[in-house]
Amino acid sequence: MAQASYSAEQLAIRQQENSMISPGRLRPAPGKQDLHDRYWPPVTPFGGLGGDLARFLALPVSGQASALVALRHDPDEHGRVLHEYLSVIYAYLFGYRDGPCTDATDDDLEISILTGKITLERELVDYWLADRPIPDFINQLDAADYLDEFAESNPGVTHPLFDFLRDEATNDQIARFLQCEVVRNEVVDDEVALLVTGLQGSQKAVTAANLWDECGRGRLENFHTYWLRELLQATEGWESLTQFRMTFPWFARITSNVFAALLTRPAHKLMAYGCFLLSESWVEPHFRRILDGMERAGITDNGIRIYFAAHVAIDPRHSRELSDGIRAQRPLLTPAKVQQVVRGAHLASAAGVWQFDRMLGYLRSFPD
Ligand SMILES: [Fe+2]
Ligand SMILES: [Fe+2]
Repeated sequence: MAQASYSAEQLAIRQQENSMISPGRLRPAPGKQDLHDRYWPPVTPFGGLGGDLARFLALPVSGQASALVALRHDPDEHGRVLHEYLSVIYAYLFGYRDGPCTDATDDDLEISILTGKITLERELVDYWLADRPIPDFINQLDAADYLDEFAESNPGVTHPLFDFLRDEATNDQIARFLQCEVVRNEVVDDEVALLVTGLQGSQKAVTAANLWDECGRGRLENFHTYWLRELLQATEGWESLTQFRMTFPWFARITSNVFAALLTRPAHKLMAYGCFLLSESWVEPHFRRILDGMERAGITDNGIRIYFAAHVAIDPRHSRELSDGIRAQRPLLTPAKVQQVVRGAHLASAAGVWQFDRMLGYLRSFPD
C-alpha cells in the first residue's frame, strides 16, 4: 500500500499548524476569575529607592567598590547590603511595579542603577560567594554526568532546614516559611524566560519547554505562579504578605538574587544554566520534606499544598531534561563553557547553603 509522502515543507507546517493554545484556554477556568484579577507578583508600587541605596548609587564606581570592600569583615552585613540593594535593582530589571523606572524611563537613574548593578554583582560573585575549587571538565558529557551526581550529593540537598520543617516546625514557623517561598518563587517564569535568551539548540529547547510548563502549557490556572496565588488565597495571606515584605529578611533573597545576577550578565549565561539545573534538582527532596511537615502539622488544604505537590512530580523531569540538554548540545560547548555550567551549579549550591543556614536560625527563633 502506498505511503502518504510529505515534502519537508509540508512536514514542518503539519508539525506547527495547530495552535498550542486550544480554544478557551486564554480565559480563566470557571471560579478562578478573582485570583486572575490580582496583579502578579503580589507587590505594591515602587515607593522610592531608600536613602542608603540612593547614596550608594551616587558614589563613583571606585567609591562603591571601596564601600563594599569595607564591609567584608562582617559577612552578614556585607550580604545584607549586597542583597537588599540588588533586590531593588532586579525588581527594576524584571519590570514589575515594585521596581524603579518600570512605569516611565529615567535615563540618569537607570544609568546609575546599571552601573551599581555591575559593582554589586562583582562583589557578590567574586567575593561574597567565593568559589571553592571546582573539578575541571573539558567535555560536556562528563560534565553532565558530574552534574547529575552533584545534584544528589551537594550539601544543599540534605540541609537540616528541610528536616526541621518536616519534623519540628510549628504551624507559625511553616506559615512564615511559606511566605518566604512565595517571594522566592514568584517570578520563576520570568527567570526561565531570561535563561532562554542566548542559549542555542538543545539547551534552548529544554529551557523553552521548561518555560512552557511554568506558563501552564497555556492554561492560566496551571501557571506555576497561579499555584502560589492559590496558596495565598487558601491562607488568606495576600495582605499579610504585603506587610511582611516591609521586614523581609535579606537572606531569603540569596538564591534568587544569585540566579538573577547570572541571568542578566551575558557572559554568565551558561553559569545561569548550571545554577538553574542545580536548583531544579533539589526541589523534589526539599518539597517532599515540606509536604511531610505540612501533613504532620495538619495542613491538608489542597490550595496550600498544590505548588509543592506539583513540583515534586514535575521537577525531576526538568532537571533530567536540563542535563540532557547539555549532553545533546551542538555546537559542542567549549571547555570554557563547560566549566561555566559546572561553576554555576557550584554557586547555586553555595548560595543555597548560605540561605538555608540563615533561614533555619530565623525560623527556630520565630516568632520571638
Ligand atoms: Fe515551577
Ligand atoms: Fe521546574
